[in-house]
Amino acid sequence: MSKIYIETYGCQMNFADSEIIASLMNEAGHEMTTEIEQADYVLINTCAIRDNAEQRIRKRLRELRAMQQRHAGLRIGILGCMAERLQSQLMVEEENVSFVVGPDAYRRLPAMLEQVRQQGVKAAETELSTTETYDDIEPVRLNSNGISAYISIMRGCQNYCAYCVVPYTRGRERSRNPHTIVTEAQHLFEMGYKEVTLLGQNVNSYCWAQDDENVDFPELMRWVAEISPLLRVRFATSHPKDLSDKLLEVMAAHSNICRCIHLPVQSGSDRMLKLMNRHYDSAWYLDRIAAIRRYLPDCSITTDVIAGFCSETEEEHQMTLDMFRKVRYDYAYMFKFSLRPNTYAEKHLQDDIPEAEKTRRLEEIIALQGQIALENNKKEVGKTFEVLVEGESHRSKKQLFGRNSQNKVIVFDREDVQPGQYVQVTVTDCTAATLIGRLKQ
Ligand code: SAH
Ligand code: SF4
Ligand code: F3S
Repeated sequence: MSKIYIETYGCQMNFADSEIIASLMNEAGHEMTTEIEQADYVLINTCAIRDNAEQRIRKRLRELRAMQQRHAGLRIGILGCMAERLQSQLMVEEENVSFVVGPDAYRRLPAMLEQVRQQGVKAAETELSTTETYDDIEPVRLNSNGISAYISIMRGCQNYCAYCVVPYTRGRERSRNPHTIVTEAQHLFEMGYKEVTLLGQNVNSYCWAQDDENVDFPELMRWVAEISPLLRVRFATSHPKDLSDKLLEVMAAHSNICRCIHLPVQSGSDRMLKLMNRHYDSAWYLDRIAAIRRYLPDCSITTDVIAGFCSETEEEHQMTLDMFRKVRYDYAYMFKFSLRPNTYAEKHLQDDIPEAEKTRRLEEIIALQGQIALENNKKEVGKTFEVLVEGESHRSKKQLFGRNSQNKVIVFDREDVQPGQYVQVTVTDCTAATLIGRLKQ
C-alpha cells in the first residue's frame, strides 16, 4: 500500500477526473493523503490549454525536484492534458517524472505504479478511447465542502476550434449512460449534498443513443432536476451552437436548475468566429442571448473570450468590446491568445498580433467587463435571493458566504446559520465581484 498525493490544475473536468483517480487508487488498496511530505507518489493532473498553464507545471516540477532529494523514494507522475499532449517525451524533458498517463488511461494507473515501483522503469500510457466514460466508478470527493459536487457527464470534444488543444488531449466526444448520472446525483443528495454541476466540454451536446433509448441534454437535465427541488443543478460549459430552446424550456420549468448560463463567445467579429471554426456568427449568438432573456429573465450570463487571435484587427477587437456592451455579462474569463502546437492555428495561420498589443486588447476587455459587472451588481441591491450557504467568509469568521441561483457570491453576517442551509438574503451593497447582504428577517 502506498500513499498518494494528487495536485490538480486546469478546468473543472480535471478536478472531476482527480476524484475518479482517487477512487481507482483506493480500490487498488492505496491511501490518498493531503500531506505531500508523506506521499510515496505525487500525481499532477495537468492542463495544456495555454502555454502559461504548461509553464506553471514545469515550475512546479522544479520545486518537486528539491523534495525528491530529501525523500529518495518519492515518485512523480504526470496525468491529464499535458501528459496526453507530450506523451513519453515529457519524461525525457523532465527527468524526475516516472510515469505519464493520459485522460482515458486512468484505469491503468494502479498497474503502472506497481511496474514503476517493482521494476524501477518509467512508463507511459496515453492511448485515447472512443468509449471510456468511467461511468461505473463512484468518485471520491476530494477537498469537498459536502455541499456541492461535480458530475462528469461526457468526455472529449471534436469541435476543433482553430486555437484549441482539447480535441487532441481529450479525444472524441462521448456521453455517459444517463441512468448512472442520475444514480450518482441521487446518491449525492442522499449524502446531504445540495448542489451538483454537470460537466462536459460541450455539455449541451450531450447525447445518449443506445438500446432504443435516446436522451439529450434537456431530457437529462429534467431527470436530474426532478430528484428533488432541494437539489440545485448547474452545468458547464455550453456551446452556443447547441443552446436549444428546449433546454431553456426545461430550465424555466424547474426553479432548482440554476439561473446561470456560461456561453463562451470567444470574439464579437464574424470573420474571427469563422476563422476560429466556432460554427456560429454574432447574429446567432445574440439570438441565443435574446432567447435566454425571454425564457429566463433573471438568468445571469457569463463567457470566455480570446484577445488577439491570429490576424485580429483593431476593428475586430472593437467588435468584441461591442459584444460585451450588448450582452452585459455578469462574469467573463478573459484570455490572450496562446498558439498551441498541432492546432489548426499553428498549422495554417500566423500568430501575428504582437504580445504588447494582445495585452492592451485584453486589458481593455477586462476594464470594460469590470465596469459592467459592477453596474449589473448594483442593480441587485435591494433584491432578496435564496442563498445556499457554503462556508465562512475569507475575511471574517462572523460572516458566511454562499451563492444565489445566478452563481453570484453573497457575503452576510452569520447569526445562527450553518453551511449547507438555504437562507433568504437581501442585498445591501456590492463590489464588481461580490454582493453584500443581510439575512431577511
Ligand atoms: N469547451 C469550452 C471551453 C474549453 S477551454 C468551450 O468551447 O467553450 C476554456 C477557454 O479557454 C475557451 O473557451 C477559450 O476562451 C480559452 N482558450 C482555449 N484555447 C486557448 C488558446 N489557445 N489561447 C487562449 N485561450 C484559449
Ligand atoms: Fe476547445 Fe472548441 Fe472544444 Fe471548446 S468547443 S473544448 S474551445 S475545441
Ligand atoms: Fe486544460 Fe485539459 Fe481542461 S487542457 S482546460 S485541463 S480539458
